[in-house]
Amino acid sequence: MKRSDFLKIGSLFGGGMLGGLGLGLSSCSTAPSQTKTDMNSWSEVTGSMAEYAAPAIPKVRVAMLGLGNRGSSLIEMLEWLVTQGHAEITVLCDVQPAYVQRAAEKVASFQTATPLRIDDPSGDGWRQACNPEVADLVVIATPWHLHTPMAMYAMEQGLHAASEVPIAYTEEDCLSLVKTSERTQKHCIMLENCCYNEEELWLLNMVKNEVFGEVTHAECAYLHDLRALLLDATYYHNRWRLREHLERDGNLYTTHGLGPVCMYMDVLRGDNLSHLVSMSSNEAALSKALRESEDAELQALASQVKCGDVNTTLIRTTAGKSIMLQFDTHTGRPYSRLNKLSGTGATHYGYPSRLYLDHGPTWDWHRWQEEEAHDAARAQYDHPLWSSLKEGITANQQGHGGMDFVMMYRLIRCLNEGVALDLSVYDGALWSLVGVLSERSVAQGNQRVDIPDVSGGTWQTKREHPVFRKV
Ligand SMILES: NC(=O)c1ccc[n+]([C@@H]2O[C@H](COP(=O)([O-])OP(=O)(O)OC[C@H]3O[C@@H](n4cnc5c(N)ncnc54)[C@H](O)[C@@H]3O)[C@@H](O)[C@H]2O)c1
Repeated sequence: MKRSDFLKIGSLFGGGMLGGLGLGLSSCSTAPSQTKTDMNSWSEVTGSMAEYAAPAIPKVRVAMLGLGNRGSSLIEMLEWLVTQGHAEITVLCDVQPAYVQRAAEKVASFQTATPLRIDDPSGDGWRQACNPEVADLVVIATPWHLHTPMAMYAMEQGLHAASEVPIAYTEEDCLSLVKTSERTQKHCIMLENCCYNEEELWLLNMVKNEVFGEVTHAECAYLHDLRALLLDATYYHNRWRLREHLERDGNLYTTHGLGPVCMYMDVLRGDNLSHLVSMSSNEAALSKALRESEDAELQALASQVKCGDVNTTLIRTTAGKSIMLQFDTHTGRPYSRLNKLSGTGATHYGYPSRLYLDHGPTWDWHRWQEEEAHDAARAQYDHPLWSSLKEGITANQQGHGGMDFVMMYRLIRCLNEGVALDLSVYDGALWSLVGVLSERSVAQGNQRVDIPDVSGGTWQTKREHPVFRKV
């Protein structure tokens, strides 16, 4: 998306109905365009960023854009890397001066150099942060609609970009990110932390060691009751995330479930996503919560919720594997990403973790492995990355049990060493594109939607996932 288009859309929606309600919802529209990008334009993608290694950066200078819930947490994940001399936080940027102040205090507790502070409430100050004189990498933890424009601008200025999920939510933006990364030869990585969780890496290691035999099917999800946070007046800046549910229907948050599954299935490293169909249930739980809130302005929004409570998307890979991907942040239920995987050798179900090792077509009871056998498999196939970083993981439990630390460690250390990152621009674009296409399928009465090749054909080369590489 061009900057002029971005501003045009912002002003179109800024005076719209939601702004008029005085809810303080973000003034820039989040409603993504559902225009279908000409599939041929993906044919211009060369694949040059697959396994791309940029020149080594002995100390990575990091500009942080967005210092809310996630931005604050990512700063904590950088602490160890800063104290070891692998990174330095050089810019802190947010539209809320209090958040910049809070972040500056946190950074001062472990870093001697003082970062540049940008707290321009106009919303445009982040451009100053994308300055190659002061930073090598931008870390983007802002509301969703800002991810692509910020990543694009950073790359154009000569910086690497690392964005929170999803990195884009229009097909045009997915394509622009890929092409810009290829043209500028700058990394553009989506920070999908769930790819680094212990259980997911354990499964990946078992796949590598052929415990699952031939992998056939996976079920994954983002099932997280966010109602209280969506309604809260201050948790999300200007309730930006609630707006998404008023304007869109489909899977709005694909990547926590889909990312690890794509790793298990060699997607973009031997296989590819071919097509999908997507269906949303009716909407009931979020509107009920809005109706029952004590805030008259929230009550007035109850009739406007567009996003169905449960979205289910079925995806088939080119090699014939199937994936069931779900999204539900409205229904009251315990958190789950499902993390189910089946193959000719084994089946795993997550939440809680259960493993079944196939022992042929027998008539005996088909029971999950006993705890002892499960734990033995866990120990036998623990991913080397997780075991080698135990100390940092233990010290950073607040980062989703340690996976956020592993993710930031890998990003910074790969940049330090000048080796390819674990995830490329194609991974982030593909996993985000599935969300876009799920919305399209829902809007078209659950029709099949073909998934374009985002990788310039490089998916056809079978190779080991870079997350197994030692850094
Ligand atoms: N990977 C994970 O586990 C995880 C967890 C939580 C959130 N997230 C992602 O992180 C992102 C941020 O979510 P959050 O919960 O921190 O939301 P938040 O509202 O707490 O934080 C967003 C921050 O961006 C700032 N901001 C808004 N406009 C800006 C601009 N123009 N320039 C600079 N800063 C601006 C806001 O002031 C706010 O501080 C989202 O993409 C979300 O999906 C990921």
